[in-house]
Amino acid sequence: MSDVPRYPVPEDFKKKTLIDNERYKSMYDASINNPDEFWSEQARQFLTWQKPWTQVTRSDLRKGKVEWFIDGKLNVSVNCIDRHLPARANQVAIIWEGDNPAEDKHITYAELHREVNKLANALRARGVKKGDRVCIYMPMIPEATYAMLACTRIGAVHSIVFGGFSPDALKDRIQNAGCEVLITADEGLRGGKRVPLKKNADAALAHCPEVHTNIVVRRTGGDVVWNDAKDVWYHELVAQQAEFCEPEIVDAEDPLFILYTSGSTGKPKGVLHTTGGYLLQAAMTHKYVFDYQEGDVYWCTADVGWVTGHSYIVYGPLANGATTLMFEGVPTWPDASRCWQVVDKHKVNIFYTAPTAIRALMGAGDDWVTKTSRASLRVLGTVGEPINPEAWQWFYRVVGDNRCPIVDTWWQTETGAHMLAPLPGAIDLKPGSATVPFFGVEPVLVDAEGNEVQGAGEGNLCIKRAWPSQIRSVYGDHQRCIDTYYSTYPGYYFTGDGARRDEDGYYWITGRVDDVLNVSGHRMGTAEVESALVLHESVAEAAVVGYPHDIKGQGIYAYVTLMDGTEPDDNLKKELVALCVREIGAIAKPDVIQWAPGLPKTRSGKIMRRILRKIAANELDSLGDTTTLADPAVVDDLIANRHGR
Ligand code: WT7
Repeated sequence: MSDVPRYPVPEDFKKKTLIDNERYKSMYDASINNPDEFWSEQARQFLTWQKPWTQVTRSDLRKGKVEWFIDGKLNVSVNCIDRHLPARANQVAIIWEGDNPAEDKHITYAELHREVNKLANALRARGVKKGDRVCIYMPMIPEATYAMLACTRIGAVHSIVFGGFSPDALKDRIQNAGCEVLITADEGLRGGKRVPLKKNADAALAHCPEVHTNIVVRRTGGDVVWNDAKDVWYHELVAQQAEFCEPEIVDAEDPLFILYTSGSTGKPKGVLHTTGGYLLQAAMTHKYVFDYQEGDVYWCTADVGWVTGHSYIVYGPLANGATTLMFEGVPTWPDASRCWQVVDKHKVNIFYTAPTAIRALMGAGDDWVTKTSRASLRVLGTVGEPINPEAWQWFYRVVGDNRCPIVDTWWQTETGAHMLAPLPGAIDLKPGSATVPFFGVEPVLVDAEGNEVQGAGEGNLCIKRAWPSQIRSVYGDHQRCIDTYYSTYPGYYFTGDGARRDEDGYYWITGRVDDVLNVSGHRMGTAEVESALVLHESVAEAAVVGYPHDIKGQGIYAYVTLMDGTEPDDNLKKELVALCVREIGAIAKPDVIQWAPGLPKTRSGKIMRRILRKIAANELDSLGDTTTLADPAVVDDLIANRHGR
């Protein structure tokens, strides 16, 4: 791949970076050769411990067992707030930028302390104790961060459900995690539109009798139906609380949060993260991967409903005493200049977003960008899916004015924090590559037989040794954790991604190798969408695959077989789309529905998705072997009627 352009670290950048190439190499070597020493030093440097650990790690990937900082004790809210006082009391912790460009707020560390402590007291007053699960279903407002940190203050475990999920998806997650308290808002506000969060929550709670308290933030003042038995206004509840709450000191391995994510089969899994290792790696990566330096204003455009928001809006930045920008709106509203307006308004130095947003903004044209200054920008970042080199180069040239390194960060809900990423002052960039491993991360490529690929080559991406922010379990189903991540290749954590390694040791993620879709950086199981589709009385069977989509990366392509005697029409298509939105959320809307009189199946009845993927992608010359099909003729029909033919 000698034709791949290479972007060396700009000389100016090198002069004031935290970690240069030599330092990266020596620290990486230390992290692999003397891991206990390395991690002890980092854990002491980045976090404040109530009691030190007695052993750095006790992990065994063969058994899916991961433990870090054994016997260590700490509190996350103390690490993210208290210890920064009084020095940072008047420093802004959170810049909140509203959906409406005229609305913003600056919250200092002192204010953050007060708000979090009051809410923590309120939760305690409502009977929440250490280990209890609290569900958070919120728009992007400061109270979402207060809610997360208030949980950590008292040792409660939060489970955030993205505000775009449906009542049904919310209900499933509340029930699975056994939450008894919900924190939500009357309505959310995104791109000028209202999102009926309380109404959705009411619909979910109708099936969750265990939830005794629903704390509601008044965001828009929109009408809500009130249930005196459990609903309580956030502002009324916290108004009565004292401004200090004694923190619950927890064990490094006590649970911090649950976050649901999709797999190739079944309902979404509750990924469980614990306290010490997670916070350490979130903080370390936030500092080193973004080259975060004192005084920087840092903006991650994610939603706190995803892991990116957990690690890189809240925990990483606040643990480092940083100023983190929280954005309620969307990049394209009121117009495609919004992000750059916000960058100029708040003098943002570090900007972290998703390839899908970059592609959408690129499509809107350069003028929206070039009419702004963006002089404050120093580092750019991407996450969520592979970035195509065209979008990368546009981001670099037009947004970053050829001045700002782009950190392409590969990681997962399960990894908790960055795993592959260039440290911007240390690593030359190649557009489309997440480059090299972070400290302590030992990636390997494994072939179909389970053998490690040496040197340049391609394979299934696995991780060979435990890392601090690693998934600890699937909530309520540890066996599922073992089956999903540790049994495919014994002794390794299996990521579900395919990757290529080039001659320079750079990694190139080629995408999921399982039945998981990545739509606009959102992860979704094909099985989830299929289960929604077959709920319709006219649907006999459905098979869902991803296909290349210009903006979303992957679009959702659904092949639907109708019941005998049902006439296919556009109205039915609309009903099916609406069904997916109702069951899962707007992110699960199929982009294409193709009526399929039959699906390609093996003689044992297994749907051959490989063929369906090829047809959806219009790659007909590489359909592969179809002779094992029970009825090869169905393929001809699917090809003849494929989308965009
Ligand atoms: C999957 C994880 C991690 C935060 C957001 C998504 C894909 C993620 C990259 C990247 C190529 C990427 C992978 C991964 N992915 N980042 N930089 N380059 N692919 O978290 O929902 O847990 O999804 O997203 O396929 O497995 P997630």
